[in-house]
Amino acid sequence: MNSKVTVVTLLEMKARGEKISMLTAYDYPTARLIDEVGVDVILIGDSLGNVLLGYPNTLPVTMEEMIHHTKAVARAVKRALVVGDMPFLSYQTSLEDAILNAGRFIKAGAEAVKVEGGRSVIDKVRAMIDAGIPVMGHVGLTPQWIHQFGGYKVRGRTADAAKIISEDAKELERAGVFSVVLEGIPWQVAKIITKSLKVPTIGIGAGPHCDGQVLVLHDMLGISDRVPKFVKKYGRIKDAMKKAISDFNREVKEHRFPTLEFCYEMPEEELRKFRAHARRHG
Ligand code: KIV
Repeated sequence: MNSKVTVVTLLEMKARGEKISMLTAYDYPTARLIDEVGVDVILIGDSLGNVLLGYPNTLPVTMEEMIHHTKAVARAVKRALVVGDMPFLSYQTSLEDAILNAGRFIKAGAEAVKVEGGRSVIDKVRAMIDAGIPVMGHVGLTPQWIHQFGGYKVRGRTADAAKIISEDAKELERAGVFSVVLEGIPWQVAKIITKSLKVPTIGIGAGPHCDGQVLVLHDMLGISDRVPKFVKKYGRIKDAMKKAISDFNREVKEHRFPTLEFCYEMPEEELRKFRAHARRHG
């Protein structure tokens, strides 16, 4: 499918039983690659914090950082739906903050935003949707809540906990989200929630029955050092990068780079004149 992916496309894909693919991207060249390959949704995730910026988690990520990277991604993408991830405290604080910050993502080129949480943020979700901004929900193991959860632990393992996640997802649907990310929950719970919703679910560590799947790009490429159990490494890019960088380092130190093949040539006559000038002027 080559036509532009919109929030409506995702609803139609669920209706047709077509799986939705989603990856994170934070810069122009990788966003371009992901888009060219045909991935349906590109998320500028607040995973930017731990993946690219060296923060210990997503909590320190600022709006300024997110907008900077959203602009780069949006410039690259022609087909995929571009979703900006609202960072910690950019929407929880007030309806006004939620609308204004979501609006900044749209002005930067995103076509939708994602927020973490269910009923606790439902008034903010409604306000953003009322302002004309499509919203993707995110429930289960929501990384902005790690201190509340006591770490990155699978959520929804008891019937009561699963019920809360399921009700949050339902409430988000009622508020008008176009899709819900289900993260770090048992696959059986994700299957039941997916069946109960009209909008598509996008799973990450939530099993095969979600309507779509998302992974963090650097995790699936094999660049990240430590990845959760649910990540399949589709590449070993870190090894390839390490080899290329260490080959460069060695060749420079061994006087083997650059050879003439990588150099510019001066015409003989010009070189003669320049040598004469250098002899005169030192
Ligand atoms: O920040 C992120 O990359 C995310 C995805 C993992 C869903 O929220």
